[in-house]
Amino acid sequence: MSEPVKPISLTQFLIEQQRERQHINADLRLLLEVVGRACKAIAVAVGRGALGNVLGNAGAVNVQGEAQKKLDVLSNEILLQANEWGGHLAAIASEEMDDPHLIPHRYPKGNYLLVFDPLDGSSNIDVNVSVGTIFSVLRCPEGVDEPNAEHFLQPGSQQVAAGYTVYGPSTLLVLTLGDGVYQFTLDRELGSFVLTQRRLRIPEDTQEFAINASNRRHWDPPVRRYVEELQQGKEGPRGKDFNMRWVASMVADVHRILTRGGIFMYPVDNKCRDKGGRLRLLYEANPMSFIVEQAGGAASTGTQRILDVQPQGLHQRIAVFLGSKNEVERAAAYHAEAD
Ligand code: F6P
Ligand code: MN
Repeated sequence: MSEPVKPISLTQFLIEQQRERQHINADLRLLLEVVGRACKAIAVAVGRGALGNVLGNAGAVNVQGEAQKKLDVLSNEILLQANEWGGHLAAIASEEMDDPHLIPHRYPKGNYLLVFDPLDGSSNIDVNVSVGTIFSVLRCPEGVDEPNAEHFLQPGSQQVAAGYTVYGPSTLLVLTLGDGVYQFTLDRELGSFVLTQRRLRIPEDTQEFAINASNRRHWDPPVRRYVEELQQGKEGPRGKDFNMRWVASMVADVHRILTRGGIFMYPVDNKCRDKGGRLRLLYEANPMSFIVEQAGGAASTGTQRILDVQPQGLHQRIAVFLGSKNEVERAAAYHAEAD
C-alpha cells in the first residue's frame, strides 16, 4: 500500500528532501546518491552473472566464518571505492570486513558512518534468485577523527537513513530518511533510479509468514507455539489460514512484507544460540527495522524493540521478528508469557 507518485529521479527526490523539507544536508544527499550509484554497478555485475565470470566462491572466508562469494567481494569493493573519496564519510564498516575501513588520508573526511551488507542472500547468488544490498547511515560521534568499531555501536534508533536494494526481476531501491519509506525502480535504459512508490505502508494484519521451518526442532517454546498456531489455520486458535514464504534472501523476504504484509522471523534457536542469532544487528536487523517501523510495521527481538538494542559488537547477531504490527506484537507477547 502506498500513495500515488510523480515519477522523479532519486537525485530530484533527494534535492527536494534537502531543499524543501530540510530532512537532509548536502553531505547526506551525496552519500545516498553515491550508495545508489554503487548499487547500480552491483546490479550490472549481478545481472551479467556467468557472462561476467562473477559466480562461485572467492576462495576466502569472512569474519562470520562464511565462504565469500566472488560477488560478495566485488560488491564490497564497489561500495568502498564509490564512497571513500566524496568527503561525506568518516568510516565504513561491512559484513565482509573484520574492522572498519578508514577514509584514506588523501581524501577529506565527513561526519557520517556507513555500514552495509554488500550482497545479502549469498546462498541465492549462484542459483539466480534475488539478492540485494542493505545499508545504514549513522552520525560519527563529535570530536572523533579516526572512528573505530566502537563508534559504530549505536542503537538503531540513531540511524539517520537506511535502505536496501533488491536485484530481482527489476532492481529496486527502498529508502527511509526517518520520514516514511520510498521505493525507486531502476530504469535500465536511463541508468537512473525513479521514484515508484511513496510512503509505503505495511498492513497491520496478515495471513503470510516467513521462517526457515527446517530449524523447527531447535526453536524455543514461544516460537514453536506461535508458528504451530499459524499452521493450524482455520481449525486452530487463530481461526484463519496462513500461507508461508521463505526466499532466504532477507531483502526479498522483507520487500514482500513491505509490499503486501507478513511476518519475517529469524529467532535465536539452539542451533545459533552461541552466536546470538543468525542475522546481524548493525547491517541487517537495524536498517530493516528502521524501514519497517517507518512503514507502520514493528520489529522486535521477541523481548525488545530492535531499534532500542545497544550493540556490543560490529558483527553482533540478533533474533529478528519484523513486519505486520499485530503479528509481531503477538509473537512478542508469547515470549513475555513464556517468561
Ligand atoms: O544474510 C543472511 C541471510 O542470507 C539472509 O539474507 C536470509 O534471510 C538468511 O540468511 C537465510 O537463512 P537460511 O540459510 O537459514 O535460510
Ligand atoms: Mn545478509
